[in-house]
Amino acid sequence: MSTILAVETSCDETAAAVIVDGQVIRSNVVASQIEIHRRYGGVFPEVASRQHILAIGPVIQDAMTQARVAWNDLDAIAVTYGPGLAGSLLVGVNAAKGIALALGRPLIGINHLEGHLYSNWLRTDGEPPLPRFPAVCLIASGGHTELVLVRDHLDYEVLGRTQDDAAGEVFDKVARLLDLGYPGGPAIERAAERGDASAFDLPRARLRGTWDFSFSGLKTAVLRIVQRYTDGIQKPADALDTPRSTFALPVADLAASFQMAVVDILVEKTCQAAERYNVAEILLAGGVSANSRLRHEMALRAQRPVRVPPLWLCTDNAAMIGAAAHYHLLAGRVDDLDLDILPNLQL
Ligand SMILES: Nc1ncnc2c1ncn2[C@@H]1O[C@H](COP(=O)(O)OP(=O)(O)OP(=O)(O)O)[C@@H](O)[C@H]1O
Ligand SMILES: [Mg+2]
Repeated sequence: MSTILAVETSCDETAAAVIVDGQVIRSNVVASQIEIHRRYGGVFPEVASRQHILAIGPVIQDAMTQARVAWNDLDAIAVTYGPGLAGSLLVGVNAAKGIALALGRPLIGINHLEGHLYSNWLRTDGEPPLPRFPAVCLIASGGHTELVLVRDHLDYEVLGRTQDDAAGEVFDKVARLLDLGYPGGPAIERAAERGDASAFDLPRARLRGTWDFSFSGLKTAVLRIVQRYTDGIQKPADALDTPRSTFALPVADLAASFQMAVVDILVEKTCQAAERYNVAEILLAGGVSANSRLRHEMALRAQRPVRVPPLWLCTDNAAMIGAAAHYHLLAGRVDDLDLDILPNLQL
């Protein structure tokens, strides 16, 4: 049995959770800064770290109160130490160190991406069996797109990753181009519901011979289409004097076509890797795995069982950090109080 307090502050959510045995969520508190960063159209690092400082104490206290766990019942304190924004990571790591020191309990530094992966181990609806190995996991988030072969607990091989933008990043950038707001993923998904995914024939970078991804060509293709409309090239010849706004960009069709292109790229590569490595399961993780088109197409096209965390565990949270930490604790992989942040940490 392990009872772990986990802390996550790598980006713009201040989060704390109490997790039992890497599976049971006793509490999961997430204080989102989305409303604050919305006005900047993205995460503003200095503002993020200042917000973490304000929120970290109450968020941890809330997580402990909701879990009805006494401080002395904790077996370890887990915290994300990278990758992420330096100023944000520091707040969580220092808070976790203070608690570990005060309680005399081990500190466990967790890679944020490993956390996303372990969101698949959290039990939320009864007791379905835990994931089986080997598995292939697609981690698609705001800063990362990684295809990972998971041979066993804590035994990973990154097969491929994005060579340019992350999948979530390209959702956010295209949403900005289409004037849909921040964060872009949910906004594009909503707009796409009313659109025709075959309206625009957008490029899919297949990068044969590698498991890597690339989204910059797709982003540029969307930009070109937007420019074509705003430059008036799509205007009927007899309407040159009509105001530009009359020739409205077909936002829903473009959003649907873009979303389908991203989904095609992600699904194709993941399914190919699943066959090549003969895995027991396909796992999805990270904010982009909240996308219902991605979830649907992956389940439809994969020849292996597909597992996806519930929506609220796809984006950043501390429960997933606590799940990963349980397996570190079992393996005796704990850290000293000199644990340092690693903003560029890789899996
Ligand atoms: N329904 C959705 N469809 C597509 N993308 C989505 C959806 N919901 C969220 N996203 C995207 O997920 C990203 C946020 O995910 P997450 O919180 O895992 O990323 P992050 O923590 O910022 O990045 P990282 O985990 O790489 O450090 C954003 O880019 C957002 O647009
Ligand atoms: Mg994340």
